[in-house]
Amino acid sequence: MPGKFYITTPLYYVNASPHIGHSYTTIAADTLARYMRNKAGEDNVWFLTGTDEHGQKIEKAAEAAQLTPKDFADEVVLKFIGLWKKLNISYNDFIRTTEDRHIQVVSRALEILYKKGDIYEDKYEGWYCTPCETFWIDAQVIDQACPDCKRKVERISETNYFFRLAKYQDWLRGYINSHPDFVNPESRKEEVLRFLELNKLNDLCISRPKERLKWGIPLPFAPAHVTYVWFDALLNYISAVGYFDENNKYRSKWWPAQLHLMAKDILRQHAVYWPIMLYALGIDLPEKIFAHGWWMLKEEKISKSRGNVINPLDIVNKYGLDAYRYFLLRDVPFGLDGNFSEEAVIKRYNSDLANDLGNLVYRTLTMVEKYFDGNVPHVEGEEINYDPRGEDIIKRIEGRDSIFQKEVRKGLEEYNFSYSLGEIWSLINMANKYVEETKPWNLAKENKGDELKAFIIVLVKVIRQVAGELKPFMPDTSSAIINQLGSQKIEKGAPLFPRLLPQC
Ligand code: MSP
Repeated sequence: MPGKFYITTPLYYVNASPHIGHSYTTIAADTLARYMRNKAGEDNVWFLTGTDEHGQKIEKAAEAAQLTPKDFADEVVLKFIGLWKKLNISYNDFIRTTEDRHIQVVSRALEILYKKGDIYEDKYEGWYCTPCETFWIDAQVIDQACPDCKRKVERISETNYFFRLAKYQDWLRGYINSHPDFVNPESRKEEVLRFLELNKLNDLCISRPKERLKWGIPLPFAPAHVTYVWFDALLNYISAVGYFDENNKYRSKWWPAQLHLMAKDILRQHAVYWPIMLYALGIDLPEKIFAHGWWMLKEEKISKSRGNVINPLDIVNKYGLDAYRYFLLRDVPFGLDGNFSEEAVIKRYNSDLANDLGNLVYRTLTMVEKYFDGNVPHVEGEEINYDPRGEDIIKRIEGRDSIFQKEVRKGLEEYNFSYSLGEIWSLINMANKYVEETKPWNLAKENKGDELKAFIIVLVKVIRQVAGELKPFMPDTSSAIINQLGSQKIEKGAPLFPRLLPQC
């Protein structure tokens, strides 16, 4: 279906509550989904998120909470769903890997690959990091420490099932080279290519013996083993749209996905395992994957295992939802790492939201009230003489495909949210400067009614444009502005972003 947009977030582990890192990817995906709904139509967008519920991490967390893994997952999943509601996340589907529709697809995929000879049984001996659920070879392990998380690894030896990654290595290199838009951003594509050039892929161990791990999807051809959590989880992107189900109405409509979003921590699984799995299964590949950067706290990645997580609800309750969405998407270019601090949130809030946007809307509405009795000056079909500064602004925003809209949308098409927001703020700043330079109070004193009217019309047009383009980023703020402007008579409410006072 041309023009359709199927977008996904990673499926988050339910071993702990969501933190700002999870909310970042989900808010970015939500913004893109909203933008695309506007562009391609509601029915042409499918936004999937969900939870990854199998594996050792969850089994252990459940054990510690003295619950069965399923009961534990049932509790934590509510926190994700509750947070997404609070953050205004407009997903179309939420998949849990413990759902039957997913388990069926995993079993089917395993069977296909086993029959094809792409999954085989072998003895495995090596190092294993339980928290990362990752195998390591001798050369990668120093002092029995996991190369990734630095925790102690275990020596294991067992019979397992392996997926033939190595066989497809050359194909994958060729594919990424001939599809330069597949892995994004460019720097991550280079990283994946370098990895594939410098290393020989090992086949992927996709099973765990039940005596070591019970909590997983049994292998249909070896019921004493369960499926490795990554092999299980990646398949969600096709199970959620009913890929193997001939009667499923979403089946052919949505796959392949247009975009898988994630952070760089799980790039390899998405850029190496996943395309090879799909290719081996004879299924089309997603169009793009994009791995963004990490939110850090004092130069360390924010994560449960580092114990430095921040609860998004704390920030939202203090500063408001749209201030939070704005901060995450504006403060750091998508793709790079960024340091999170409340001081930075407050700074953005006071300068960009209270001083720039909030002030522009408030002062414009105040002038409409004061000089025009609350009636938005009417423009339809009227000849208006703008002053040169007003003319400059109008040139930027006029027409269906104005320079302003083009620039904002260009940012969104490239997943460059901070660029789009930067463009919106440069218009806001132009308009604020216009107010300061025009000094409308003098126009009023001198009874220059036509000039005052033209001036207000410019500001109202700017605000409408700003509200329109802010919609995917800050849906509530966008509607609040549109409501305050009304159609003819304004409904001035309280300032949108009252200035925050310094905290003692
Ligand atoms: N369950 C796997 C994903 C399976 S996808 C088929 C997983 N889960 S996770 O809960 O660890 O989520 C990782 C993802 O959460 C990252 O890729 C990113 O989307 C988000 N983030 C978690 N911490 C983050 C930061 N500190 N900064 C930015 N994003 C972060 O991996």
